[in-house]
Amino acid sequence: KEVTLGIDIGGTNTKLGLVDRQGASIITDSIKTYAQEPADHFVPRLAEACFALINKVSDQVEVLAVGVGVPNGNYYHGTVEDAPNLRWGKYVPLAQMIQDAINLPVALTNDANAAAIGEKKFGVAKDFDDFVVITLGTGLGSGIYVNGSLVYGHDGFAGELGHTTVFLDGRDCPTARKGSLETYVSATGIKRTVFELLAKRIEPSVLRDYSYNMLEAKHITEAALDGDPIAIEAFDYTGRILGLKLSDAIAHTSPEAFILFGGLANAGDLILNPTKKYMEEYNLGIYKNKVKVLLSDLKGDNTAVLGASALAWDEYEKKLKK
Ligand code: BGC
Ligand code: NA
Repeated sequence: KEVTLGIDIGGTNTKLGLVDRQGASIITDSIKTYAQEPADHFVPRLAEACFALINKVSDQVEVLAVGVGVPNGNYYHGTVEDAPNLRWGKYVPLAQMIQDAINLPVALTNDANAAAIGEKKFGVAKDFDDFVVITLGTGLGSGIYVNGSLVYGHDGFAGELGHTTVFLDGRDCPTARKGSLETYVSATGIKRTVFELLAKRIEPSVLRDYSYNMLEAKHITEAALDGDPIAIEAFDYTGRILGLKLSDAIAHTSPEAFILFGGLANAGDLILNPTKKYMEEYNLGIYKNKVKVLLSDLKGDNTAVLGASALAWDEYEKKLKK
């Protein structure tokens, strides 16, 4: 069976999978991503995981090509440039490096773009021509479809909503831009909110038992489901800021829907409900009650792997036609 290898590089985990043309994944795996690990250490580790995965099913599959979704990835150049949550530096020719390591053609795009491709081909966005996927992981990413096409823009970096500003002189960010959306709305952002609230409030909260490094978004979710007031307030605040920024984003491309994907989106209604409520509250009249906010329904967080694989298929077939 012919497959492509889809790779979704995140700030905390990197997922990989062998996927057929119809989006059925044959086998998947994941490795840790370490923010401080240089790209030339990461790539051999990734290559090893790719070979291990392929070897497990080498009697069943033929791998044709590789697709990669990566923060600050540039489809035009196959590069990763200045990713705040990877610290790989200004310019990494990642597509070429992976190609050299595993000897297969590599196509590369931004990680949120890969998620958007996955949602469009196989997920909840199948019937939408205009939508924005918002990925809520270590950072906040966005993949924007307009009139049925993924938007890359002039330089290839279209759709970096995570780096648009919420507050002037707001929270510190590894980029030079303080107060950016991803410092508030992401798995990391909600954690920062929790610690700000814990410092300001006196009520008891199970979240007081965690050190900053131990606390994960899933703990905040569990606490909120148990009725913890700090956790609930943190979700409300996160949804309020996201709702505001979605109402802004509507003004740019008039989408039919937003789709939330990634670690924090696994909180389900806890993040969805306040986001929708505040988005409508902030929406300009002409947009009110028209734009859907949905959760990704591709189970197992594999949307971006499927999208990266689909990109590899598209590029592979384009080359065959030439
Ligand atoms: C990066 C984006 C990426 C997002 C989610 C941001 O920090 O700049 O390119 O899509 O994180 O990983
Ligand atoms: Na993007």
